[in-house]
Amino acid sequence: MAARPAATALSGVPLLARVPLFSRVPAVLAPPALVRLRALLFAFALLPLARLVYFGFAGGLGANPVEFVIRSLGTWALVMLCVTLTITPLRWATGWAWPVRLRRMSGLFCFFYASLHVLAYVGLDQWFAFDAILKDIVKRPYITIGFASYLLLIPLAATSTNGMVRRLGGRNWQRLHRAVYIIAPLVVAHFWWQRAAKNNVHEPALYALLAGALLAVRLLHRWRERQGSTASRANSSSTVSR
Ligand code: HEM
Repeated sequence: MAARPAATALSGVPLLARVPLFSRVPAVLAPPALVRLRALLFAFALLPLARLVYFGFAGGLGANPVEFVIRSLGTWALVMLCVTLTITPLRWATGWAWPVRLRRMSGLFCFFYASLHVLAYVGLDQWFAFDAILKDIVKRPYITIGFASYLLLIPLAATSTNGMVRRLGGRNWQRLHRAVYIIAPLVVAHFWWQRAAKNNVHEPALYALLAGALLAVRLLHRWRERQGSTASRANSSSTVSR
């Protein structure tokens, strides 16, 4: 079992690291354990697709199979987005380093399901009638918002490799990936708008709460980090001037 990383002066001991259930989990995993965990996540993340394929063959897609497929793929894209957004706050709260090693895969699964969702809409719902799709994007606000969120996801997926992180530089990469602060609200709005027309916003409301809380925690953490570095700069300059 690897040692838990020392808590920083800024954050103190992570909140959940004081809870026995969490403190028993190692903060760092050995490479073979990490490989197994990645394989597990990969298998789990493919289950929704396997379920759809199974339903397709078993005739379980209901009275409106196209709607079922589009909705299911969209929901799983949103779920994987929420999983991805949870990873960094989880690290802050527990001190575990290993969830970060799963972040790229969960982000790419979000993009994977979003792409299948869009493909199902373009191919199964619209039969590749691009003029009708364009009209839909212009005329139906929830489609406009979905389209915008998908466009913003593309550069994030395209820059997810180590090579791209190196080429962009860590800071620029981080800046680019802050687009998630726009993408998550857009996706929730896309979901909400579509369901509002049917007077059924319970599910989107839950996702709005979850995504809102996850984004708020991140913003709060960044704000505290800024406060901390401003305070330490002020301290060091007053020491120098003494
Ligand atoms: C070009 C981009 C997009 C288009 C054209 C599009 C299209 C659609 C359509 C037509 C529906 C309604 C299906 C129906 O009830 O018949 C839908 C629902 C949904 N979409 Fe999208 N979408 C796009 C992007 C996205 C993205 C990027 C995500 C998530 C990352 C997403 C997540 C969802 C969710 C969660 C629903 C609601 C599912 C439900 O009602 O259970 N969509 N989308």
